[in-house]
Amino acid sequence: METLEALKKRRSIRKYKPEQIKDDELGAIIEAGLYAPTAIGRQPWKFVVLQNQEDLDALTLLNVHFRKAPETMKPYYGAPTVIVVFGDKGDEPFYEYDCTLALGNMMNAAFDLGIGSCWIWGEKQMFETEEGRELMEKWGLSANLGGVGAIALGYPDGDFPEAAPRREGTVIIRK
Ligand SMILES: Cc1cc2nc3c(=O)[nH]c(=O)nc-3n(C[C@H](O)[C@H](O)[C@H](O)COP(=O)(O)O)c2cc1C
Repeated sequence: METLEALKKRRSIRKYKPEQIKDDELGAIIEAGLYAPTAIGRQPWKFVVLQNQEDLDALTLLNVHFRKAPETMKPYYGAPTVIVVFGDKGDEPFYEYDCTLALGNMMNAAFDLGIGSCWIWGEKQMFETEEGRELMEKWGLSANLGGVGAIALGYPDGDFPEAAPRREGTVIIRK
């Protein structure tokens, strides 16, 4: 797919087929994230790819507790893969920008491969809680890392929706 077309047509997907994405697709998505620009080229991140039910359930529960939502809620929409991106807090204030760009690259790369994605909110706050810290420890992550964001990934169960119209008046060009 042409890059510009992909950038315009990517949409958040909230219904996934249970089938797991292929390893080479996952690899290509991760690689796109790893090539995002970073301040001073530091790449201050750690991507945690969750594909087993135990970890996905633990992440879901952490998110639900953070939202104070019922435990039946599925904030990651039951996606078979979730990538959580953590950044080195020592790289404040840049790490959040850097990790966000990586997440954006990965969502666009996923779309290019016909894979659905959706950014799910809460990781920064979730991983500041005791429950979140315990999960980080279990995943072998050091305390200098902070959650920045997560994307759900999987084959869409349905079509990619149309984009909402773009808001007027959000661009100023001064020649
Ligand atoms: C920082 C951020 C947080 C988001 N959090 C959620 C979320 O928790 N749950 C969700 O379903 N979508 C979430 N989204 C997806 C947005 O709702 C979505 O990008 C927006 O509605 C525009 O739709 P589009 O991605 O299809 O263009 C989030 C997006 C961003 C950038």
